[in-house]
Amino acid sequence: MERYGIPTPRAMRFDNLKALENAISIETQWPHVLKQSGLAGGKGVVIVETPSQALQIAREWSVQDNLLAQGILWEDYLEGKEISVHVLTNGKDYVWLPLTRDYKRATPDLNAPNTGGMGAFGPVTDITPEVRTVINEKILEPLMQFLQDDNLFYHGVLYVGIMLTHLGPMVLEFNVRMGDPEAEVLIPLLPIDWGACWLGLAQGNLPSIVEPESRAAVAVVLADSGYPLEVKGSQEIILPKTPEGLIFHGSTQQSGDGTVLQAQGGRIVTVVGRDSSLLGARDQAYRTIRQIIAPDTQFRHDIAADTE
Ligand code: GLY
Repeated sequence: MERYGIPTPRAMRFDNLKALENAISIETQWPHVLKQSGLAGGKGVVIVETPSQALQIAREWSVQDNLLAQGILWEDYLEGKEISVHVLTNGKDYVWLPLTRDYKRATPDLNAPNTGGMGAFGPVTDITPEVRTVINEKILEPLMQFLQDDNLFYHGVLYVGIMLTHLGPMVLEFNVRMGDPEAEVLIPLLPIDWGACWLGLAQGNLPSIVEPESRAAVAVVLADSGYPLEVKGSQEIILPKTPEGLIFHGSTQQSGDGTVLQAQGGRIVTVVGRDSSLLGARDQAYRTIRQIIAPDTQFRHDIAADTE
């Protein structure tokens, strides 16, 4: 990102605890962010508000397998709203999928732990054409240039996590996959033949994507009550026989007649409501999730609510 001038928060990478402790002790901007520089299942980011909290996490991470060796990032905290930008690309050109927003913290509380995602909705309509232009010019076009300059063959979906800050859009992360639970919003939202879309992309052909009009989808994740800090044992959950919304399975195993399941912890199912309005989609998702009998579980109650 530095090489291509792609806007992203300032970050320093450490593989030495003493040097990281020193950076924490001289930091003047709080809150700040500690990030694991490796795969962490979406859970390797902690927003820290004080030096003592930062030092505690840095020390905890420093004794965990490989975390320091992979690198720990000490990164500026960004204030703003997050969006998930998905594009389909043949490595040269790209088309946008509808914009989505996911909810990464376990609860709305700023100090709640990050998860893989507790819900999402789309399309996000509160960004202006000017912001889209900046994302194209400052992020996506340089990214395509990078793929070509480095001879990286990439045909498929790119998912860019972006924070909309007062300084403009800034990249939080790139993923070479769809977001989860953004995929559960995007796939039902777009009435296209996904098999043909992926095959065409593999052959270098970009599909045409028509942004859905008067269609919205809201996904709410039902997770085990210990998620993401603790993995609880298996528990029985019962799904409604004829659910109004869609139910995508995460960590379930069938037992019994098909509506009784053994949930194995973590993110158990994702429930999706669809409607011509966001409010209608949201109501459908919450009506459906409330019909699931699952005593030792949690879900966020505010997915898509801040847009009303
Ligand atoms: N929704 C966040 C992710 O898939 O990484």
